Amino acid sequence: MTPDFEQAEEWEKRHLWHPFTQMREWTLPDHHPLFIASGEGPWLRDAAGNRYLDGNSSIWTNIHGHNHPRINRAITEQLFQIAHSSFLGLTHLPAARLAKELVDLLPDSGITRVFYSDDGSTGIEVAIKMAIQYFKQTGLSKKIGFAAFNNAYHGDTLGASSLGGIANFHDRFAALQFPVMRVNGLDELDRLDAATLAAIVIEPLIQGAAGMRTWPAGMLRQLRQWCDRHHVLLVFDEVMTGFGRTGRMFACQHEGVIPDFLVLAKGLTGGYLPLAATLTTEAIYDGFLGDFSELRAFFYGHSYTANPLGCAAALASLQVFREERVLEHVASVIPVLEEGLEQLKQLPCVRDVRQIGMIAGIEVGAADGITFDWRERMGAKVCVAARDFGLLTRPIQDVVVFMPPLCVSRDEIRFGIEVIGKAVKTVCG
Ligand SMILES: Cc1ncc(COP(=O)(O)O)c(C=O)c1O
Repeated sequence: MTPDFEQAEEWEKRHLWHPFTQMREWTLPDHHPLFIASGEGPWLRDAAGNRYLDGNSSIWTNIHGHNHPRINRAITEQLFQIAHSSFLGLTHLPAARLAKELVDLLPDSGITRVFYSDDGSTGIEVAIKMAIQYFKQTGLSKKIGFAAFNNAYHGDTLGASSLGGIANFHDRFAALQFPVMRVNGLDELDRLDAATLAAIVIEPLIQGAAGMRTWPAGMLRQLRQWCDRHHVLLVFDEVMTGFGRTGRMFACQHEGVIPDFLVLAKGLTGGYLPLAATLTTEAIYDGFLGDFSELRAFFYGHSYTANPLGCAAALASLQVFREERVLEHVASVIPVLEEGLEQLKQLPCVRDVRQIGMIAGIEVGAADGITFDWRERMGAKVCVAARDFGLLTRPIQDVVVFMPPLCVSRDEIRFGIEVIGKAVKTVCG
């Protein structure tokens, strides 16, 4: 490391506070945080010049790789026009064009409107508040309740985390969170009180933060039918699954199911900048129209709503999808990932592998089939070992995530799988 980074390590340990991190461990003298200095395609480089495959797409955000020339250019060109102006009472071309392109990705779906915010959590907040205000303004003000699934994760702001069902993340704030009707699966829907229910929220096809837990095929269609029967709105949280990760542009397209709200973030800008979009239908939008004095406008917004740099990056990312035929590439490499996971499954310490498209979770456990004590942090140890072999990723307890940027080659996938195999053997025996 250069002297600059040595100095930075001191500042880092003295002044910074990292998410989901026990800072007492982080600041120990023998812990040297990894400084990421640059990236190229699916690879990251640290301050000492070591190269790593970005095995979790920089926390599930990066789509086309780092330093992509088209996205770099788009952001730079926008920067020399304007970096930011308010979206309250003003508008701009990249926001309008992006809204049109997003809606065009879901033709004949009834999805027509785009509301921008900043990240996955705020995208969910928008859906929550829109659903409540919509029912209030359409004569069904008793509909203020939400249902969500056990083990769900929808973000960390207080509203989004109310929907979350992972004890470690959410329980300590329970007293402040709004009540949510919690279900395990479709068979429990009929015990919900639909008269007070505004919406059901789900991560379609796969629950990410729960440890890459997949839902049964056909579930989304049945959920849509139940919601239609009971006049309950359906929210698809595609913050993780959106933009090609599952093999289709959006997870909902696997079952041809259109939600009332589709929440997009992370990959929206190709993983470059924070931007979210909550997409909805004309019917919901109509519920907010009226005379000014009726105060039916949607009361929500952030300072950086529709940031032009983010919109420019998102437009460039969609262009890359078209020009580089990204979904075709993804279709051609998914079987390579599948094959690799099958190999990992043969290891005695791999309890399970789960995969949807380019998203994979590899669950480690003791060779006798018993789970490790979570305090042993075996998943984290596997990830630390993988780092030494040239792969960066993060675990969810004992589930090692492997979801590289969509631009990975077959050989890069094989490399990632090989590293995970070596790391599992090194740590678990
Ligand atoms: C399904 C899902 N929803 C929402 C979020 C929250 O997104 P953000 O971290 O951008 O607020 C995440 C983050 O991992 C997620 O996986």
